[in-house]
Amino acid sequence: MYKTILTEQSEDGILKITINRPEKLNALNSDVIADLSKAIFDLHTNQAIKGAIITGAGPKSFVAGADISEFTLLDAQGGRKLAEKGQMEVFDRIEQSPKPVIAAVNGFALGGGCELAMACHFRIASHQAKFGQPEVNLGLIPGYGGTQRLTQLIGKGRAMELMMTGAMIDAQEAYRIGLVNHLTEPENLLDKATDILRVILSKAPLAISRIIDLVNTASIGDPDGLKKEMDAFGELFGTEDMNEGVTAFLEKRKPVFKGA
Ligand code: COA
Repeated sequence: MYKTILTEQSEDGILKITINRPEKLNALNSDVIADLSKAIFDLHTNQAIKGAIITGAGPKSFVAGADISEFTLLDAQGGRKLAEKGQMEVFDRIEQSPKPVIAAVNGFALGGGCELAMACHFRIASHQAKFGQPEVNLGLIPGYGGTQRLTQLIGKGRAMELMMTGAMIDAQEAYRIGLVNHLTEPENLLDKATDILRVILSKAPLAISRIIDLVNTASIGDPDGLKKEMDAFGELFGTEDMNEGVTAFLEKRKPVFKGA
């Protein structure tokens, strides 16, 4: 079904998406973008999938950027289309997924790779991971959301420096500046991501989807964010899961949520 990614679905609904071009350090060519687009569509629409982890194949790289060999074919219009297609069909739809998506960053996360990790709801990285936006070395800028999401995540001054120097930072520095939430040994990376995702999946799915939506709202500086929070808070009061959560607390038992 896919040419360039591997997918695996656990019994409890975790979709693991592995970008699988290790010989090219998992660079994002048009096939990868097409495959990711399908997998993310599946994440949105398949009821059996509850959340996802995105990672890269091999020990060396998460994703080392957009595939530079495809850039030679593009003019200005083609470049604009490349960015638009990637952003609209993959990156934005990961960010806007109502189900949680975690990046498990196992190595180089450069250019489009850093942007892919940043489109996920949060990031866990192995000690071997390296991050950067080196597009400036090619006479370019990030095109898959990097100028916006990096600024939101690490602040204006740090984002300016990283993008303008094209420098690569190691996992420890990425952790220090808040680009990643946790660091692990490489062999524990996927277990750590899975453990955290399982905690999230044990909560009420409608509440999780509202949190994702509202945090996204905050990160783009939507002036109606507080009002939207009040509305969502009120809506959740009408749900079966809210009734279950409150009843379970009062009955001193664990809640069983249904997503309704
Ligand atoms: N696009 C296309 N091919 C890429 C790539 C990319 N973004 N990143 C790596 N590759 C390919 C290399 O061309 C090489 O292919 P080859 O064996 O057919 O020559 C293979 O992946 C291995 O990469 P290599 O450069 O030999 O590994 P390295 O360990 O010496 O260096 C990097 C690793 C990540 C530092 C280096 O590959 C690099 O700088 N990549 C480009 C990063 C970048 O600029 N990304 C943003 C793009 S907008």
